[in-house]
Amino acid sequence: MSNPPSSSRPRIAVIGATGAVGREMLLCLEQWGYGQHPVRAFASPRSAGQQLPFAGRSLTVEVFDDAPTAKWMHQVDFALLAAGSSISKKIASAATSSGVILIDNSSAFRMTPGVPLVVPEINPDHLADLIAKRTAAAKQGSRIGGIIANPNCSTIILLMALTPIHKLATVQRAVVSTYQAASGAGAQGMDELALLTRQALDGNPLTPSFFTEPYAFNLFSHNSQMDVQTGANVEEQKMLDETAKIWASDDVRISATCIRVPVMRAHSESVNITLKSPTTLRDIRLALSSFPGIKIIDDRATNTFPTPLKASGGNDVLIGRLRVDRSQLPDPCATPTDDTPATGFDLFIVGDQLRKGAAQNAVQILAALAPA
Ligand SMILES: NC(=O)c1ccc[n+]([C@@H]2O[C@H](COP(=O)([O-])OP(=O)(O)OC[C@H]3O[C@@H](n4cnc5c(N)ncnc54)[C@H](OP(=O)(O)O)[C@@H]3O)[C@@H](O)[C@H]2O)c1
Repeated sequence: MSNPPSSSRPRIAVIGATGAVGREMLLCLEQWGYGQHPVRAFASPRSAGQQLPFAGRSLTVEVFDDAPTAKWMHQVDFALLAAGSSISKKIASAATSSGVILIDNSSAFRMTPGVPLVVPEINPDHLADLIAKRTAAAKQGSRIGGIIANPNCSTIILLMALTPIHKLATVQRAVVSTYQAASGAGAQGMDELALLTRQALDGNPLTPSFFTEPYAFNLFSHNSQMDVQTGANVEEQKMLDETAKIWASDDVRISATCIRVPVMRAHSESVNITLKSPTTLRDIRLALSSFPGIKIIDDRATNTFPTPLKASGGNDVLIGRLRVDRSQLPDPCATPTDDTPATGFDLFIVGDQLRKGAAQNAVQILAALAPA
């Protein structure tokens, strides 16, 4: 514990403010009512002095100091981290000892025991311990630091849809195929998609530099590290491990295949689930529509369903293609209705992973700790 508590308006740092997630964090801070708070923007020396629009004014990008003696650690209350896991690991100890609460978008601490991994709509109770400690410290005129991890973007989007169904009838197993956008790989991923698409349309040879496969008019297995023994890549493993932590369950069965597709922004996921208890499509729709942060777009008559463009820039996770999985019915030739009890269902989920999958979720965590 150190430093006196700050004024009533928490001081906020966005670290990695010029990146794909950081820029979105500034938009979300404004949208969640932090526009008049003291907000500082940090990035690498490459971006020093750049001006970033924020709440009708302009923030000057400061060079981030990751030394344990850095002054900012005594000048901010919350740091939203979006500069990669090595930066998060480097500053965590000194920043938290100085009383800063880190809300970290990287994977550095997600699976660290004792670090809450939080989606506010799903497991806000995992913040209770830190909130209690901060409140107790504030009563003694001091402040206490800590780390809260933001889950992986594909995991957040998946769990926004599966959690209400899990509460209704227990998801025993999920088979997930992702269609992941360029923005999930940050500014460089987006630049590569735009550049290679131009190269392709101009009839030039495609020369990937950030990804190993050509990104234009193509798709490929997720670019995270592959475990050659299991055949699962890190993105797929994260979906399993992080779900178990968020749901506080040691019996999560998820088989994921993560694919990068040539979409600029917003991840899509096709999901097949097996439930423990039979339920109906009608009840699933009800459970989903009463869960915050979800919008159902599921008009079979007009073939209108979620798309990445519909989700881009929005706060909601979109769900559609809801249907009974006939292959899991006792008679797979039967024609199910909305009231047919079943344990197998399919759905298609789309969410803007820069928002709900990253920046927005982080700002929602901030709002749970320090309402604007
Ligand atoms: N993209 C997503 O959908 C997504 C979703 C969930 C989590 N995340 C995580 O969020 C983090 C940021 O991802 P991103 O997609 O926003 O990446 P990005 O677009 O590449 O942005 C990286 C940011 O980090 C800054 N940075 C790099 N080195 C730095 C340094 N030494 N000191 C200070 N700042 C530094 C960059 O500043 P400059 O502009 O000056 O280089 C930039 O602002 C990563 O940990 C990523 O895994 C991303």
